[in-house]
Amino acid sequence: MGGFLKEYHRPVLLRETLEVLDLKPHLVVVDATFGFGGHGFEIAKRVDPGIVIGFEKDPETYRIVAESLPPITNIRLLNLGYERMDEGLLKVGILTVDRVLFDLGVSSFSIEGTGRGFTFRKEEPLDLRFNPNEGRPAYEFLNEATEREIAEVLRRYGEERKALQIAREIVKRRPVKTTTELAAIVDALYPPPWRRKAKARVWQALRIYVNNELENLRRGLALAIKHLKVGGILSVISFHSLEDRAVKSLKDFPFLKALTRKPIVPSEEEVEENPRSRSAKLRAYMKVAEVDVPSLLEDRRFANPFPPMRKERGRGRRRKRRRR
Ligand SMILES: C[S@@+](CC[C@H](N)C(=O)[O-])C[C@H]1O[C@@H](n2cnc3c(N)ncnc32)[C@H](O)[C@@H]1O
Repeated sequence: MGGFLKEYHRPVLLRETLEVLDLKPHLVVVDATFGFGGHGFEIAKRVDPGIVIGFEKDPETYRIVAESLPPITNIRLLNLGYERMDEGLLKVGILTVDRVLFDLGVSSFSIEGTGRGFTFRKEEPLDLRFNPNEGRPAYEFLNEATEREIAEVLRRYGEERKALQIAREIVKRRPVKTTTELAAIVDALYPPPWRRKAKARVWQALRIYVNNELENLRRGLALAIKHLKVGGILSVISFHSLEDRAVKSLKDFPFLKALTRKPIVPSEEEVEENPRSRSAKLRAYMKVAEVDVPSLLEDRRFANPFPPMRKERGRGRRRKRRRR
């Protein structure tokens, strides 16, 4: 079955997640963010001879874990984002599943070990993509976008108060290519006690933007609910309010029943042992009726709070005009 690679990441809310998933032998479980299997390997033990289908977007994480799996295992690992769950499940020949878990944080390995700029504590290229073969790196966006576009990203996805000032400085000092260059810009605008949190907001905003995280999450959640059997369980660990907003909004839909009245949060001991767990929130739902994915994605209650960025809207309009 293989074992959890604890040197790369420490799972958050593990006991609580296993409990809420109500696991038993023969179940088919999707781990939508397999990472290093902190949750996935424990789930695989409990459902054996059932299986775990793991989605992992980062090719490096995928490779490390895939190489550590023994030849006989009940884990099917896919190097695919959960937003492509349809394609992944088709690949393994499974259409309906009993449980789905999303653990939305960034792994310690992404932060410390990929060299893609997920931390502002080391000098690295400011890439920030989970999959460096998809989309464009953060430095390309920062060096090509207008001041207003950069400010909009920082405001939307980082709720950054000094978004416009930071954007102005970025544009003035371009090209900005590394973590240390961006960190110096943010530091210059804040007194020392506020610098760390300001950088965390800026990094979060850019990461959400370059990975299209909010739209992918909506799509991943909708697909997960589609593929769950009636009576199946969806559980999601989120790490910031924008993610949690989408997850929480699911309580308003009649095809799901909330299993957690309030989100489950880590104990004091867990936070002390693993400070990265401090903002985690676990919510769980049971599917009680079938759902139509396109209508869910268009439903205002589940909508992405942010319309496409100005430039993207403009591009769409220009394309349409040309077609006419
Ligand atoms: C918090 S980690 C998961 C950790 C895992 N539960 C464990 O305990 O080892 C989140 C993982 O999701 C991956 N990821 C990010 N976006 C993804 C997406 N759209 N689809 C699938 N995986 C994604 C990241 O590369 C990272 O490995």
